Amino acid sequence: MRDYLQQLAATGDLVTIERPIDPRHELAAVTRASQRRDDRALLFTQVKGTRMPVVTNVYGSRRRLAAAIGARPSGFCRRFAQMTGTPPDPGHVSRTEGAEVDLEHGHLGDLPAITYFERDGGPYLTSPIFIAREPDTGVANLSFHRAMIVSDQELRIRLGATHDLARYQAKAESRGQALEAAILVGVPPSIFLAACASVPYDADEITVASQIEGRPVPMRRARTLDLSVPAEAEIVIEGRILPHVRRPEGPFGEFMGYYVPVQDNHVFEVTGVSWRRGAVFHSLLCQSPEDIYPLEFAIATRIYRQLSQQVSGVLDVAVKSALLATIVQIRPEYDGHARRALLAAVGTHLDYNKMVVAVDEDVDIHDYEDIFWAFLTRGRADTRSLVLPDVPGFYRDPMKDHWGRLLIDATKPRGREAEFERKRIPGEDSVRLEDWLG
Ligand SMILES: Cc1cc2nc3c(=O)[nH]c(=O)nc-3n(C[C@H](O)[C@H](O)[C@H](O)COP(=O)(O)O)c2cc1C
Repeated sequence: MRDYLQQLAATGDLVTIERPIDPRHELAAVTRASQRRDDRALLFTQVKGTRMPVVTNVYGSRRRLAAAIGARPSGFCRRFAQMTGTPPDPGHVSRTEGAEVDLEHGHLGDLPAITYFERDGGPYLTSPIFIAREPDTGVANLSFHRAMIVSDQELRIRLGATHDLARYQAKAESRGQALEAAILVGVPPSIFLAACASVPYDADEITVASQIEGRPVPMRRARTLDLSVPAEAEIVIEGRILPHVRRPEGPFGEFMGYYVPVQDNHVFEVTGVSWRRGAVFHSLLCQSPEDIYPLEFAIATRIYRQLSQQVSGVLDVAVKSALLATIVQIRPEYDGHARRALLAAVGTHLDYNKMVVAVDEDVDIHDYEDIFWAFLTRGRADTRSLVLPDVPGFYRDPMKDHWGRLLIDATKPRGREAEFERKRIPGEDSVRLEDWLG
């Protein structure tokens, strides 16, 4: 990540803040205020209670995420689907073992302990990427799981039941065994994106990172575990997820804008903490662009990949996870094409399609004003919306608040496309306002 931060500094995408800041709420408050203004990353050099600097909003920009994989923002899904969906070429070398790293060793208490939201149950690690191996095959998985800091020896973590790490842990637990895992904090873009990617259970995600990066991932041995970890990670927390132990975790201010209540969740016993000399800690504000965009891109890619196998004319997909909504951009070819795409999209991912909207290629799929402009100006409300009752949705939903589906065809009426041509002013996209207004 440190190389990437240097690049951001060179392009003016990183602001350094030397004023001392409190990790309890103040750091989160400043992060949120800054993210409301622009998408620059922030580096806090003096965080109370730790010697380690903290960086945030590193990946909170669609523009930067797309650039990291060599795509335009509107081409992210297509490019990421190619990178993560195709098996590596024969002879592809995914990792090099035994990288030499200048390491320091310490305790969890040496790291910044950041508390984000008012009612959070304590300080949290919000950008932790777990690396673990499938108990039988040894395939490596990377995934995010937020962790509540309880003591120098203990973290409490939330493992979504459908995620690979939860399945590894269940397998180890059924044998009465702990699952060894290492937590990476502060990683280069390729590892960050590989951890977000939704790939099959038996796919090795270090291989995915190497496909994204276009070179083998340098790895080093963990000190207390039988595991290799990416050598470039700024901080590595080694440990084991205990079998048959669950302890209260939460509340935590989650991505939909509410608190997840206290639940009995998994326990991670810490066996070692190390960091590269001069390490920078990565803080990620939940529900902010840095939390939302990477996950949205990864989910949209999965939907795009599956949908375009079933329906022709799919141009792009956008997901707004906090709204559980999916937008599908198509070039309609026949009557009912949009409706077919809407129904197919429902089957591609159960969690994030409480509402699915199909739009034409002249609509900005990230702009809800534009999306609803298309729906409400391009035809009837009644015949272009479809409600599917009682379909289960988002996985963490005990009261069934997210059951049911709303499907909206916001494309132009067939045969009347010319009436709905979007007006434009020649040259408006190339105006440089500073030439006119100073
Ligand atoms: C910033 C961020 C935080 C996340 N936090 C959690 C979490 O606390 N628990 C969880 O189960 N999933 C969390 N996720 C989702 C998974 O880590 C992610 O979907 C990952 O791709 C899982 O993929 P897998 O099933 O291939 O392991 C988070 C994702 C991101 C981007």
